[in-house]
Amino acid sequence: MSGIDWDALLAAAKAAQANAYAPYSKYNVGCALLAADGRVFVSANCENASYPLGLCAERGAVSAAITAGVRAFRACVIVTPGPGIGSPCGGCRQVLCELGPTFPVRCVSLTGERADYDRDALLPGAFGPGNLAT
Ligand code: THU
Repeated sequence: MSGIDWDALLAAAKAAQANAYAPYSKYNVGCALLAADGRVFVSANCENASYPLGLCAERGAVSAAITAGVRAFRACVIVTPGPGIGSPCGGCRQVLCELGPTFPVRCVSLTGERADYDRDALLPGAFGPGNLAT
């Protein structure tokens, strides 16, 4: 996809993944989000002994970007350990769809698998702001 430095995004996601705190699942995830203004926001998953409090990498990255004032994205890379391709969970698919209905999401595993999702592949029929009565 043109104009996107996928290699740089992948490197940023891998660096985040290396800092994942996942002592319970031992499934380290890193996410890098490219904002429309060119900045890159990263996060790793952050688990907790109280399991439901764990935060996925994607939602951490979205939160970091939102906190910095970003409201538009150009691309997202998610790195998972493998073997086999990773997949964003349903909650993260919903969150990724909230602000960037058009940006591509790429999943890459450390064992070499890759999958690209456009918005419809990410969450067909997603619930969104348009569904809310205002
Ligand atoms: N995880 C993510 O960070 N992103 C996803 O989309 C799927 C799952 C994390 C949550 C948990 O820390 C670990 O992976 C295993 O589910």
